[in-house]
Amino acid sequence: MKDYLLKVKANDHISGKLWLLSLEWEEDPPKAGQFFMIEVSNSYDPMGRRAFAVADVRDGEILFFYDVIGRGTKLLSTKRKGDTLRAFGPLGRRLFSYEGEKHLLIGGGVGLAGLTLFGKELRSLGKEVLFVYGARRSDQLGMEGWLKEEGFDYVLFTEDGSKGRRGLVTDILKDLKGSWTVSACGPKGMLRAVKNEALKRGLRAYLSLEERMACGWGVCLGCVVKTAGGKFKRVCWEGPVFPAEEVVFS
Ligand SMILES: Cc1cc2nc3c(=O)[nH]c(=O)nc-3n(C[C@H](O)[C@H](O)[C@H](O)COP(=O)(O)OP(=O)(O)OC[C@H]3O[C@@H](n4cnc5c(N)ncnc54)[C@H](O)[C@@H]3O)c2cc1C
Ligand code: FES
Repeated sequence: MKDYLLKVKANDHISGKLWLLSLEWEEDPPKAGQFFMIEVSNSYDPMGRRAFAVADVRDGEILFFYDVIGRGTKLLSTKRKGDTLRAFGPLGRRLFSYEGEKHLLIGGGVGLAGLTLFGKELRSLGKEVLFVYGARRSDQLGMEGWLKEEGFDYVLFTEDGSKGRRGLVTDILKDLKGSWTVSACGPKGMLRAVKNEALKRGLRAYLSLEERMACGWGVCLGCVVKTAGGKFKRVCWEGPVFPAEEVVFS
């Protein structure tokens, strides 16, 4: 990991709150599931960097999908081609499991960005990959274009039925046949449901947690979570991926 000064190649609005940031990248590709702490402002307002999962790495560029939700991401959306951004990473030491031949990758909203690179790696290893992508409404499924472009099999869910199947991403686990490894990234409520459904069905499941982070490399203890057995772990350092049975939801 290192602090890079990276040039913006593009920063485009996709749909709803979703944006796609492309930064120039000539280094070795980060591992699937890793993230960067990106400086959104060069002043103290807002303080600190923001964490973003590496969504894809292509020839000479690294891609991040992000939702504009607060001041930091709003500022990020004002960056233009040729601007530079400081990005510290790649971070995250415990990543997804490649075990098993059939992989179900479940992304809730922008959480899908934490799984896209993993999907590409699994496919390159000859594994079967099925993405499940869900959101409240159809305008929150802006990463569908990426799934299509990359030629992945995928199932969409919306809570209001405006696109794909009506319901929750976890509904897919109810009629799943065979031995799948489940990897998921998204809001806490979704991760809790994935854990419960997957473990009930005897499936191996791994959850990528997106706790709020300040330093991103293990020193501030800002991202600590309680795990099974009562141990506290830093999501940025001992994670961000944990076997489902290890995660305790409050
Ligand atoms: C390892 C990791 C990877 C991530 N990857 C991505 C990604 O690829 N794309 C993406 O869009 N986002 C990702 N996030 C979340 C992203 O870091 C936050 O959305 C961002 O920091 C918000 O900054 P802000 O200044 O816009 O919002 P703030 O003004 O800081 O917060 C706005 C609101 O969002 C809430 N909030 C902020 N961060 C989080 C969080 N992590 N979890 C839950 N609620 C939060 C705040 O409590 C507040 O209510 C990731 C987070 C982590 C830890
Ligand atoms: S964010 Fe500082 S210890 Fe994890």
